[in-house]
Amino acid sequence: MAFDKYEFYQRAVQSPDVDALFLDRVYRELRNKSAKAMREDFCAAFALCCHWAGLSETKLAYGVDLDPEPLDYGRKNYLSLLAPDIQKRVHVLQTDVLNPELPEADIIAALNFSYFAFKDRSTLKNYIANCHRTLAADGILVFDCFGGPACMEPNEHETEYDDFSYFWDQDSYDPITNEAKFAIHFKPRGQKKITDAFTYDWRLWSLPELSDLMKECGFKKVNFYWEGTDEDGDGDGEYTKVEQGEICESWVAYIIGEK
Ligand SMILES: C[S@@+](CC[C@H](N)C(=O)[O-])C[C@H]1O[C@@H](n2cnc3c(N)ncnc32)[C@H](O)[C@@H]1O
Repeated sequence: MAFDKYEFYQRAVQSPDVDALFLDRVYRELRNKSAKAMREDFCAAFALCCHWAGLSETKLAYGVDLDPEPLDYGRKNYLSLLAPDIQKRVHVLQTDVLNPELPEADIIAALNFSYFAFKDRSTLKNYIANCHRTLAADGILVFDCFGGPACMEPNEHETEYDDFSYFWDQDSYDPITNEAKFAIHFKPRGQKKITDAFTYDWRLWSLPELSDLMKECGFKKVNFYWEGTDEDGDGDGEYTKVEQGEICESWVAYIIGEK
């Protein structure tokens, strides 16, 4: 079978079904009502949009990405598999997330750290301001973020699946700029390792920097959702609203601004 980097990415990196339920839940928790329109910025193959629109007939999804390749992949491999009424509730736009004409939404989600590609404060601030402007009155902006001392040095982690291995490879970290380079490699079972299937040149933004920016752009309140711990001391995938974080070698959290 031909190597399909998007399929492996989806299986190793994404949980769009879990993410859709999480977004639905946090909007209800923070706003006491149900969200209708969700915009997935940096959507790539817009798997999250497809799951969001499938949650109920009131849900509408908009995906935004600059790159036609993952958008086409999503149309062929995810959107086309949905029931026709669900397909009608998914809309994708090939444009910049900085475009001021983006569709209004109750939730804007920028997941898998995609906004880390904005390395200077003024560009990230423009983006957050654009989100604030294009959110509906009770809208929320959801970013995931990672950090911890393990991200401040090169390292590589392998995760094994039945038919392939996934490698998350941090190549560099600069303490002066917080810039870091990452790559994803895959090794299909019985085949050669495919290196640099995806590469990322990022600035690692911290939660207080993001919180300050959200407040400067007009968000009234900023919330943090932190992962719980299982009996072995590992993350359990359950995120709850907290006032204080926890010291961890590496963590993933959500920062959520309320318009
Ligand atoms: C890390 S990937 C997407 C990950 C996806 N959101 C997920 O959850 O797995 C980043 C995506 O952002 C897109 N992108 C980068 N800069 C962009 C911009 N300024 N406007 C829109 N899309 C952008 C890239 O084309 C790429 O598909």
